[in-house]
This record gives sequence, C-alpha cells and structure tokens, in this order.
Amino acid sequence: MEIRKVGVIGAGTMGNGIAHVFAKSGYEVVLVETQQAALDRGLQTIRSNMEREVAKNKLTAQDRDAALKRIRGGLERKALAECDFVVEAAFEKFEIKQEIFRDLDRLCRPEVILSSNTSSISITKIAAQTKRPGQVIGMHFFNPVPVMKLVEVIRGIATTDETYNRTRDLALKLEKTPVEVNDAPGFVSNRVLMPLINEAIYAVMEGVATAQAVDEVFKLGMAHPMGPLTLADFIGLDVCLDIMRVLHSGLGDPKYRPCPLLIKMVDAGWLGRKTGRGFYQY
Ligand code: CAA
Repeated sequence: MEIRKVGVIGAGTMGNGIAHVFAKSGYEVVLVETQQAALDRGLQTIRSNMEREVAKNKLTAQDRDAALKRIRGGLERKALAECDFVVEAAFEKFEIKQEIFRDLDRLCRPEVILSSNTSSISITKIAAQTKRPGQVIGMHFFNPVPVMKLVEVIRGIATTDETYNRTRDLALKLEKTPVEVNDAPGFVSNRVLMPLINEAIYAVMEGVATAQAVDEVFKLGMAHPMGPLTLADFIGLDVCLDIMRVLHSGLGDPKYRPCPLLIKMVDAGWLGRKTGRGFYQY
C-alpha cells in the first residue's frame, strides 16, 4: 500500500508542524483537533510558517498554495478512516493517548501504521491498547518541525521490521534524518536533554547563577543555539515536567526527580513562551 494520505491528531505546536512537513512533501493531510479554535490556530500557524519559507525563498508561492490545499482540517476523528498512515500528536498524557489509539485501531484499516509523536511515553504500552501492536511505532519530531532534521523512530517491543522500515522511509521522504531508537523512558533525546534542563533549573533555584547566566554558559561555551532555560520555555515547562515524571517513575532512580522550582512554576501557570512567562517574559 502506497502512503498518500496521512492523518495527524492534534494541531498544537508539534501537530501543526507535522502537518506542515507532510503537506509540503506532497502528502494529503487530514488534521484533526477537538476544538475549532485550536484547529484554526494550528492552520494559521502553518500558513504563517509557510509564508516565512516563501519570504526566505525556500518555497515558491505556488508550492505553498498547493501544500495548503492538501491539508483538510476537521473535528471528527472518523475522517482518519481514509488515511494510510497516522501520527498522533495530542497531549503528553498516557490516558489521552490510550483513548486515541483504541479509537484509531477501530477506525483505521488493519494494514495502516499508527505512530505517536510522544516525547517520552512507552510505545510498547501505547501499542498494547491496539490489536495491531506490530504496526505501532514512535515517530518523534522536534520543534520547530519544519526546521529540525531529526526524527527519532522508536521501536516498541512488538514493532515489526516492516513497520520500522516504512516509517523510516517516510521520514526520509520528508527530508528528515531518522534515527533508530528502542523503547525506554524518554528514548534518547529526552533521556539526555531533560536531566540537563532539570539540572539547569536546580542551578537557578540554588542561586548558583541567574537563568541568563546559565543560558550564556551553554550558548557561548557549548555552542547550543539556545541555553537550557530558553529551550525549556520554548518546549513548555509543563511538557518538561511531564517528561521528568516519566523518567522518574519509569527508571526509578532519584537522580531524575523533577526540580521543585520547575513544579512551582508549572503550578503558577508559568509555562514558558505559550503563556507569556517562564524563565523569561514574552
Ligand atoms: N517554521 C519554518 N521555519 C522556521 C521556523 C518555523 N516554525 N522557525 C524558524 N524557522 C527558520 C527561520 O526562517 C530561519 O531560516 P533561515 O536559516 O533561512 O534564515 C531559521 O529557521 C532560523 O530561525 P531564526 O533566524 O528565526 O532564529 P534562530 O537562528 O535563532 O533559530 C531555532 C531558531 C531554529 C529555533 C534555533 O534557536 C534552534 O535550533 N533552537 C533549538 C531548538 C531545539 O533544540 N529544538 C528541540 C526541542 S526538543 C523537542 O522538540 C522534542 C521534545 O521531545 C521536547
């Protein structure tokens, strides 16, 4: 079966970026949200990010128009029944993904691969919600999706070689670089990145340095494009906390305990860029 039409669940930061790159690479996209306002915001972000690419001569106006026409937004999951491949990019909570994958398993043709853009939740556990665990896989993109080259392709315990190969080939068609990873809490990216961010937050909490100083150390000393606290604000502090909790409970090692300052900021609703306040004001 050739993959022509791709379903994307969730039009948030990751979902709209994923829909963007699939549409730009010639795939028909069905983008599903639960609220009209969230769908409208996601579609608007795709338009403005494509506009940015046109302004930088990375995309012609004609290709932009064609790509936008390939995206169909909606609020009904049943539109996904026509899709040949699905990427779930909903909230990072297992209960939400559990419900979605059970539903997708009922809705989608039996040969369709169901993938998740989860940044830390077990692919094996998500796959076990379906009757097709061999065709469930992690397809983890990075923000901003149109810019970042990596796709972490995560094999659950039951993921077949065919599912892996088709997903890897799909990532290559998007002009991304797939990297194969086995299922473990946080995979590779967040197993390593989140403890770095968490430790940077401890440094701020303990008064070792200001957030600005910590970020300068990483930008100038290690050539990171963003310091860890700017990056935490960019990712969302709630997402960082969710991932630390997955690492802490999944690996059972106290070294993964979330920093109390991170918990406090999330409790305050200071979630980073998306709420206008995190380690910095926006
Ligand atoms: N869509 C399309 N293009 C975009 C874009 C978007 N959303 N955002 C930026 N760009 C383009 C810009 O147009 C620009 O293009 P040119 O090179 O042609 O000029 C290029 O990307 C760089 O952008 P800017 O010049 O505006 O700004 P910058 O140089 O500061 O780069 C950045 C911005 C790419 C975000 C850079 O700061 C960066 O790489 N930051 C680190 C991002 C990162 O680590 N992401 C991973 C987060 S972890 C994650 O996503 C997964 C998880 O599980 C938590």
